Amino acid sequence: MLETSKKIRKAIFPVGGLGTRFLPATKSIPKEMLPVLDKPLVQYAVDEALEAGIEEFIFVTGRGKSAIEDYFDHSIELEKTLKDNNKLQKLDLIKKTILKPGSVSFVRQQNPLGLGHAVWCARNFIANEPAAIILADDLIDSKPGCMKQMIENWNGGNMVATMEVEPEKTSSYGIISPGKVIQDKIEVKNIIEKPNTKDAPSNIAVVGRYIVEPSVFDHLGLQKKGTNGEVQLTDSLSYQIGKAPFFGYNFHGTRYDCGTKLGFAKANTSLAIKDSNIGNQFKNWITKLNKN
Ligand code: G1P
Repeated sequence: MLETSKKIRKAIFPVGGLGTRFLPATKSIPKEMLPVLDKPLVQYAVDEALEAGIEEFIFVTGRGKSAIEDYFDHSIELEKTLKDNNKLQKLDLIKKTILKPGSVSFVRQQNPLGLGHAVWCARNFIANEPAAIILADDLIDSKPGCMKQMIENWNGGNMVATMEVEPEKTSSYGIISPGKVIQDKIEVKNIIEKPNTKDAPSNIAVVGRYIVEPSVFDHLGLQKKGTNGEVQLTDSLSYQIGKAPFFGYNFHGTRYDCGTKLGFAKANTSLAIKDSNIGNQFKNWITKLNKN
């Protein structure tokens, strides 16, 4: 049955991944805490959620991820030192990382059994409401943020952010089989996790932003293993086709795959160029670098 609640109040942040592509850095730092310029990836994700009106933040963590919990809490010593030294702007900056008391929850995914499993671990916090899912690895630079764009275009059912990828890259993404196109929305007729180019129904890929109806948790609860032996969120969305509306949303903005070194370097470069303090100097430096 399709639930009708319109407001998306809750967001799930799966942050339990091992981040092996960034070893040795991620040996003791969660990959979501790697900074793009001066903010950790997870802060970009939370800022996007806040802008979209999200009120409850559920982080699905794992072992070795306690730095994320600490990040969203007070740092008493640091706050005192900044205050004593009259560094009030900096004090303000770190106070902004603290979300409303009671609005942040952490749940552990004890074993890395896949994205679908991570999302399922948040089920009791979501209960019977539609929810947003934000993958911090996918940094989306856009105004308004991608999740706000999606919520504004959502009318119940499931929704994924989509973009076209090079046909030879389909095996890195969930890929949709497109139906009717209504402005920025594309009806999803089918969705497959990481198909080879020859089996892919299109080159329209899912990026890490979802709005899901709570019924998705029923299928996730079956814990069926899919691609790469993992419980895939894609498979639960696929199961819902025909039972609830399902749209891809072609977001406006630039997505950086910060789960890879190349995407991470691009995000840092691009945001450094735009930065109001260092942007010009950085651009000049890049220009000189290109000439050498
Ligand atoms: C996950 C999803 C995939 C989606 C991708 C977007 O894959 O399973 O469908 O396209 O995120 O970043 P992952 O990158 O975690 O392997």
